[in-house]
Amino acid sequence: MTKTMIGVIGGSGLYEIDGLEGARWQEVESPWGAPSDAILTGRLGGVEMAFLPRHGRGHVHSPTTVPYRANIDALKRLGVTDVISVSACGSFQEHMAPGDFVLVDQFIDRTIAREKSFFGTGCVAHVPLAHPTCPRLTDACETAARATGITVHRGGTYLAMEGPQFSSLAESRLYREVWGCDVIGMTNMPEAKLAREAELCYASVAMITDYDSWHPDHGEVDINDIIRTLTGNAEKARGLVANLPALLGADRAPCPHGCDRALEFAVMTAPE
Ligand code: ADE
Repeated sequence: MTKTMIGVIGGSGLYEIDGLEGARWQEVESPWGAPSDAILTGRLGGVEMAFLPRHGRGHVHSPTTVPYRANIDALKRLGVTDVISVSACGSFQEHMAPGDFVLVDQFIDRTIAREKSFFGTGCVAHVPLAHPTCPRLTDACETAARATGITVHRGGTYLAMEGPQFSSLAESRLYREVWGCDVIGMTNMPEAKLAREAELCYASVAMITDYDSWHPDHGEVDINDIIRTLTGNAEKARGLVANLPALLGADRAPCPHGCDRALEFAVMTAPE
């Protein structure tokens, strides 16, 4: 048994979490550079928590400039075992409406301007990524969301785009009609890949703010609508996070899906 430490990476609209006992913002150094911000640590319901605002307080990092490697490394150094990624997304499905949450389980990575691995100089590793999110952690998020009264969809394919511009209509149709994606966002990749390399369980809670640009009744993405929905979503996300400690518990058995032993299953070359 090891101690659970829940790491929450907060997306647009979610810049802190409430009710932490012994809360303090800690600067964490990483050889991969500076993380997006200091990390808020404390205890919630007897479980260690760490919260990192992905874009920094004041939203200073764009999806492209978020220091993904430093963020995952800093959480790992603090002792985080389970990462809950909270982020805003657009929906490609009529029944996945703004205000709903999607527990993403697959990704198509279309990002092109980000460092995507901790490996590659001296030591090469190819970790398995067929199932990029942890079903055990996602179960906890689903229960926590339902207990908060959130309309939540279990499973969905997330198209990770570079941004910062939103998609053209042709792209939106391609992702929806040809590639069968469910949601679109700018931040879950390479985050999920790096969490796997760092042997961290990772669950993605994607909060829908809009229908992207494909929907005939909704036109293109409207930033005012997004901001309005974001605020409500962030409130719901805080409720979800507050339910997690009781579900995950302070003591942790090895992940039944092997996320915390990913390098044992990787193809690796030894460092020289
Ligand atoms: N984040 C929120 N809505 C989005 C959209 N439509 N496309 C990409 N990222 C988003």
